[in-house]
Amino acid sequence: MNIFAEYIKYRLKAKGRHGIHSPFVYDFVDQCLRIPLTEELKSKRKSIYQAYRQNQQPIQVKDFGAGSKKLGHTRKINSIFKNSSSKGIYADLLFRITAHYPISTVLELGTSLGVGTLHMQLGNKNAEITTLEACPETRRIALENSLKQIPQVTSELTTFDDYLSKHTPKAFDFIFVDGHHDGTALLNYLSILDAWSHDETIFILDDIRWSDGMWEAWNQIVKNSKYHLTMDLFRMGIVMKRTHQEKEHFTIKI
Ligand SMILES: C[S@@+](CC[C@H](N)C(=O)[O-])C[C@H]1O[C@@H](n2cnc3c(N)ncnc32)[C@H](O)[C@@H]1O
Repeated sequence: MNIFAEYIKYRLKAKGRHGIHSPFVYDFVDQCLRIPLTEELKSKRKSIYQAYRQNQQPIQVKDFGAGSKKLGHTRKINSIFKNSSSKGIYADLLFRITAHYPISTVLELGTSLGVGTLHMQLGNKNAEITTLEACPETRRIALENSLKQIPQVTSELTTFDDYLSKHTPKAFDFIFVDGHHDGTALLNYLSILDAWSHDETIFILDDIRWSDGMWEAWNQIVKNSKYHLTMDLFRMGIVMKRTHQEKEHFTIKI
């Protein structure tokens, strides 16, 4: 995957609100993507980002992302923050989505340091967020920092597979899939998550261009007749069933 060439292709295709005829997608671009960030979000994340950036403490990390391989190694917290946490326009997007849509329940696959979780929580403070993380030390740091004293967030120490197979499915309004970036795994999670979603559930899939495998999986999802709305936002993809509408795909400028 040549990410630079991919970005050029994306930019040439990507649309702003002009030329979008779908009312739902027009509203997404015209309203949701323009929601101003609150002062509370700006100040909380400033202090959290600063704390993580300055933290050189090494922790023991269990990596569950690469197939079934469980690699134990140490990583500094500032390096985990730099490489794994949602930031910039994509973190803003998480905030904006929970702020704009009627979302009362969120499922996040992959907590890491809780940065994405914090954005979703501040977007809608009444939403009940369940976030899954299999690495105990990474989760501990999230709970001591970004997710400290936030009762609306339930953090589960679990692999995605264990959680999804051992609990009775309930439909979430928003599902953020941000861990185990492997195309086959992504397709598998999405198929399992069908039982955990309703017709208007918003799925955000992170790192759709992470690898050739992830990109192939994304293209299969776009073609899948089950999903009537898909939006390519370059790094992230949005997927919704919305079976009451015509099947449509958009490349959106974010
Ligand atoms: C990219 S990070 C998540 C970033 C976070 N969502 C954010 O927005 O800041 C991915 C996390 O998923 C966890 N993870 C990956 N595969 C997993 C699995 N199969 N089960 C549980 N956790 C997993 C990793 O340990 C890592 O902390």
